[in-house]
Amino acid sequence: MKIVGTGCGPGLLTEEAIRAVSGATLLMGSRRALDLVSRFIPEGCEVRVVTSFTSLSVPDHAVVLSTGDPQLAGLGFLGGEIIPGISSLQLAASRLHIPLETVVVVDAHGRDHDIAAAAIASELERGRRVFVIADPAFAITDLRAHLAGCDQDLAIALCEDLGYPEERISRGTIADPPVPRSRLFVVFLGRFP
Ligand SMILES: C[S@@+](CC[C@H](N)C(=O)[O-])C[C@H]1O[C@@H](n2cnc3c(N)ncnc32)[C@H](O)[C@@H]1O
Repeated sequence: MKIVGTGCGPGLLTEEAIRAVSGATLLMGSRRALDLVSRFIPEGCEVRVVTSFTSLSVPDHAVVLSTGDPQLAGLGFLGGEIIPGISSLQLAASRLHIPLETVVVVDAHGRDHDIAAAAIASELERGRRVFVIADPAFAITDLRAHLAGCDQDLAIALCEDLGYPEERISRGTIADPPVPRSRLFVVFLGRFP
């Protein structure tokens, strides 16, 4: 089995990922992941749209698509050979000129948002820059209550639809946070340029 990172948006496939997809006889992934590789799906390849991989048995010959990078809250946990992709973390950090080695990641995707908010607060209080993997229900405006002990002027950058034509990056502060328009977004918090 191969787990292939598709990159977090269009046009971000690596040559290695293209080779894996082009040679696939069985391709499995979400609708969005399949759309990102559609140009390279070979004729005759079986394509399965999968909404959840938990408790699904994946055949050995499958090429599984994981949006962004499989090792960032992705499908790398399935095992097999992992082919990396360009993550939302990498693209957001590039857009904002934030060096990756200065960043702490908090995964709030499909998790308890109060626990994630407490982790964000604790990292900000230690002076770290925080990258949050969100989900559509993650309420940035509700963070204020959890971040009452932090400097209210700390920056928040909301990065929506990274890599897509409708990409949007908006900035605010803890006291006055930006509001998402899209369901696909990540958030950076802390001090940055
Ligand atoms: C299950 S996680 C997968 C992350 C992915 N493995 C990565 O490397 O970016 C899905 C979350 O990643 C973030 N994400 C993925 N692609 C994105 C994009 N193009 N723009 C903004 N956020 C994105 C969103 O927070 C989304 O809810």
